Amino acid sequence: MEIDNIVVKNRGITIINRLKDISNKTIINEIYNGLNSKRRYISPKFFYDKRGSELFEKITELDEYYPTRTEKSIISSIGNKICNNYSGINIIELGSGDHTKIELLIKQISPEQLRKVEYTAVDISESAIKKSVSTLKKVFSQLKVTGIIADFINQPDIITNNKQKIICFFGSTIGNFTERERIRFMNNLSSQMRKGDKLLLGFDMIKEHNIIEKAYNDDKMVTAEFSRNVLNVVNNITGSNFNPKEFEHNAFYNAKKERIEMHLKARKDMLIDIESVKESIYIKKDETIHTENSHKFNSEHIKSIGHQAGLSTTDIFTDKKGWFSIALYKKHT
Ligand code: SAH
Ligand code: AVI
Repeated sequence: MEIDNIVVKNRGITIINRLKDISNKTIINEIYNGLNSKRRYISPKFFYDKRGSELFEKITELDEYYPTRTEKSIISSIGNKICNNYSGINIIELGSGDHTKIELLIKQISPEQLRKVEYTAVDISESAIKKSVSTLKKVFSQLKVTGIIADFINQPDIITNNKQKIICFFGSTIGNFTERERIRFMNNLSSQMRKGDKLLLGFDMIKEHNIIEKAYNDDKMVTAEFSRNVLNVVNNITGSNFNPKEFEHNAFYNAKKERIEMHLKARKDMLIDIESVKESIYIKKDETIHTENSHKFNSEHIKSIGHQAGLSTTDIFTDKKGWFSIALYKKHT
């Protein structure tokens, strides 16, 4: 299935490409401004080209990366606590990635109800959307499935339908936002929710620091490859000539800010040409490019994140060790 057009319909699956509404120039400028700023950075949304999405899937299978299996164990047991009748509901998953988490939730819905359920996946990664919606359609042939390729930070108006909704945002991807992005994102989401709509939000919890640090410094160095791959993505978009091998993966827990920080550290001095903007940047040995924050949370944070956005916290589901939580928020007005 090629996705050159804005809307593609094929065998009961609809795919909408909203990224086409953002010009290349806007994306190139966003990357260039980050690279050229005093504290160089690249937004984590640029991790996820085809290779990046594949590497993330590999990360989720690592022994050290506890968040995925922990969140999955929670999802598997909460289907009937979220809702007792899914008929007529549109389940919308943001930053959906692969199909495996939502499959665990949908499995808990009875076949009679499932016939009246719609599922919409939203992700910036075209390859992830294509793969996940076609796999889900194979598993649940009666399910109406839509994939939307979009940037949920810069295109916050994605959820426009009027149906009763359960929005899922798993993986603790909310932890990758800056505080400003998070507040804006939550307010936007809340403004698109109707009375009775629900939001399921995954949070990686604050815990012993070395457990968290290991999750981002795995022995097989898959995370290091994921981390460096962002430079391939930047090269493809901007025509720059980064050599990812000339950068070291550096991930550590910043206890004051309660977050993992991922940086790429230059192994030598280098001059990077950025063809699309006809500029060069000089990066000195040991200089870093900040690529990701992964904030960790506690139950007070979880309640106040909902409250700030006008949502009430109906429940917080947590595993036995208290390592991961899924909050169930509800819109009352
Ligand atoms: N929810 C899945 C995937 C988490 S990885 C899980 O829990 O395993 C984060 C996902 O969010 C990736 O699939 C990535 O492509 C997507 N993503 C990151 N930034 C995004 C953005 N700005 N807009 C849309 N999707 C984004
Ligand atoms: C998607 N996101 C929540 C992951 C995280 O843990 O912050 C991305 C990731 N980065 C390195 N490993 C995983």
